[in-house]
Amino acid sequence: MDKLLIRGGRALHGTVSISGAKNAALPELCAALLTADTVTLKNVPRLQDVVTMEKLIRNMGVAFTRSDDGIVTLNAAALDKPEAPYELVKTMRASVLALGPLLARFGKATVSLPGGCAIGSRPVDQHIKGLQAMGAIIDVAHGYMNAHLPKGWTRLKGARITTDMVTVTGTENFLMAACLADGVTILENAAQEPEIPDLAEMLIAMGAKISGHGTSRITITGVEKLHGCTHSVVADRIEAGTFLCAVAATGGDVILENARADHLDALLDKLREAGALVTQSPHGLQVTSSGKLKAQSFRTTEYPGFPTDMQAQMMALNVVAAGSSIATETIFENRFMHVNELVRLGANIQIDGRAAMVTGNAKLSGAHVMATDLRASASLVIAGLVAEGETTIERIYHLDRGYDRMEEKLRGIGADIERVK
Ligand code: EPZ
Repeated sequence: MDKLLIRGGRALHGTVSISGAKNAALPELCAALLTADTVTLKNVPRLQDVVTMEKLIRNMGVAFTRSDDGIVTLNAAALDKPEAPYELVKTMRASVLALGPLLARFGKATVSLPGGCAIGSRPVDQHIKGLQAMGAIIDVAHGYMNAHLPKGWTRLKGARITTDMVTVTGTENFLMAACLADGVTILENAAQEPEIPDLAEMLIAMGAKISGHGTSRITITGVEKLHGCTHSVVADRIEAGTFLCAVAATGGDVILENARADHLDALLDKLREAGALVTQSPHGLQVTSSGKLKAQSFRTTEYPGFPTDMQAQMMALNVVAAGSSIATETIFENRFMHVNELVRLGANIQIDGRAAMVTGNAKLSGAHVMATDLRASASLVIAGLVAEGETTIERIYHLDRGYDRMEEKLRGIGADIERVK
């Protein structure tokens, strides 16, 4: 298993290019299942989760090509196995995104339940509820969802869907399923994360009729068929946010190419209050920091609020910033796995249920630590970049799921970091 070796204490300077968003690429790869035409996706990030999704889609009988410069073509004309098997789904929950498109185009799907993951139980009951509202019959047995249409139906039916809570991939499943349904579908409490409008724009390019994407109410009027398209994946706001926190914590001056300030308002507010300077330039986001910041309390919530995917990274910054702060995680029930590892580096953090109290001004010293989940890994990298001495991070396959060559990008802006086999 690969490890990362970091020698901390260096400020970061230069330019780094932000890749396409993992959480847009994954649903958009599944959107290609909705048509028999060829779909071309550009700016697809080189991530383990994308490789897993590629395996899943090839396994269905979809033709799939990928070039070195992130261009992927898919053609689902010959798809003959509308299934997502356990051995692939267990490693990536986002596989559930195949359910809506397969049901919409083929009228049947057999998709493994994702099972839990490090940050929580991650149920899919809302996905099932919404698709049932559109007429799907979904039996859950032996760890699989077996979905099909009622007798005599050739398509799903448009419906009004209100989920018990805002769900990002739930919204994406309904959005894709509704494009080919008979009639109008209204999503009442839709997720507003920027990856949703990006997916909607791709579906519209394929001939879908969608309005309201990016707001909490999305209306989709079903069409008979969708055609192919070429779509470029939106930049990854969480990768950008991760680099912003890293530079803010270590000090320095870095330009994040392709990053968009308008996708990061809540985080930028906190970083500016902490004392970092963040400005949108024509090339992307420029962040300048003395490395001496004031800790900021924050509370994760659905977009446009502070993203749960940035909680661990902001906490790493608060650990070394001046003053105390509280991080409150309202989305997932177990997303403080990075805390114990940060404490090994010298952080001072007390967990009390959904809140973590951080005493700042920690003098971090390098240590052996272990990644436990994707964003926890990013938090340990940030702490290692600041810690005095050498930090070794084990199990960085977690990091590789969601970051495209992170150590190369960090080395490119002056970090002393290397991957050891
Ligand atoms: C998406 O996960 C992201 N993944 C997650 O990013 C992100 O943390 C999350 O949204 C929240 O923003 C992808 O987009 C591939 P949810 P998702 O459904 O869709 C509960 C990362 O680090 N819920 O919005 O699975 C759920 O347990 C990953 O890139 C149900 O109870 O999250 C959670 O408490 C991690 N039943 C809350 O809703 C359901 O059927 C929000 O979950 C669905 C969700």
